[in-house]
Amino acid sequence: KTLAGFIAGIPKAELHLHIEGTLEPEMMLALGERNGVPLPYPDADAAKSAYHFSDLQSFLDIYYRATAVLVTEQDFYDLTIAYLQKAVSRKVCHAEIFFDPQSHIARGVPFETVVGGIGQALSDANGGLGISTKLIMCILRHLSEEDGNAVLEQAVRWKRWISGIGLDSSEKGNPPGKFRELFAKARHYGFFTVAHAGEEGNASSISEALDALHVIRIDHGVHCMEDPVLVERLRLDRIPLTICPLSNVRLNVFGSMREHNLKTMLDAGLCVTINSDDPAYFGGYVNENYLAAAEALNLDRNDIIRLARNSFEASVLSNVQKKLYL
Ligand code: ADE
Ligand code: ZN
Repeated sequence: KTLAGFIAGIPKAELHLHIEGTLEPEMMLALGERNGVPLPYPDADAAKSAYHFSDLQSFLDIYYRATAVLVTEQDFYDLTIAYLQKAVSRKVCHAEIFFDPQSHIARGVPFETVVGGIGQALSDANGGLGISTKLIMCILRHLSEEDGNAVLEQAVRWKRWISGIGLDSSEKGNPPGKFRELFAKARHYGFFTVAHAGEEGNASSISEALDALHVIRIDHGVHCMEDPVLVERLRLDRIPLTICPLSNVRLNVFGSMREHNLKTMLDAGLCVTINSDDPAYFGGYVNENYLAAAEALNLDRNDIIRLARNSFEASVLSNVQKKLYL
């Protein structure tokens, strides 16, 4: 069996996936047309060739602009179903999916429209496609804590569909501590919490996410290796890291895939997982991320099995559900 075939065949969980980041250029253009939203790209190829990023912020500018085509509940439903079908075809059995409601509310799209469309798709897919899911509402860290509090209060009324609270967007200048009280409230309401940390920020931002926000998992976290004390803490406490190899290379966190520290982290005994982040922008879904990392870093089949097992261990599935996969 080829390495690609081996990767495609093993059950996986995906834990770091922004649903807005699955908006493929073709769907973006179709929804732009449907909703009368002008786009700076004449066709899908023009969009794809514009997807060159120097860093996280240069990506976020393009990513937030594209979300303007998402207007109706049906748009959010269609976007989510399209991802779930791709996930199922790649043997993703469980997905924990981020969404960014503040980017839609700022454009006048009601919270209920966003959550209604995404939530209905997740619910339909559970029975129809056979994939289990959790929905994680991300707080945009470049906005104020007050702005985040407003969506947190809305999320409480949608707890049947929203399980967790995350933190994303521009890491530079927006440390985790800015959201200490919001995250305390989120935990009080019964949401689990995660945060992007150590993507562009250094190891101290990972420690701060653990200490100030009490997150159960770190998104990215690749800068942890700078701090041996932190590495030991992550190892002993089995705090998972959701690594996104293609994203890290496309956003210049690493100069090339060969320089990625995924294998070093795996060999250090950390609970690392492989994920796709924003696959419509970074050139691949979860299997392509496994393959690109495996080829550049000489991962063997045992490494790949370990990464896939870690993805279930790192999920918020119950222990009974995890036993199906571990
Ligand atoms: N929003 C979407 N993708 C992101 C990433 N990789 N980092 C921070 N915010 C994001
Ligand atoms: Zn992300």
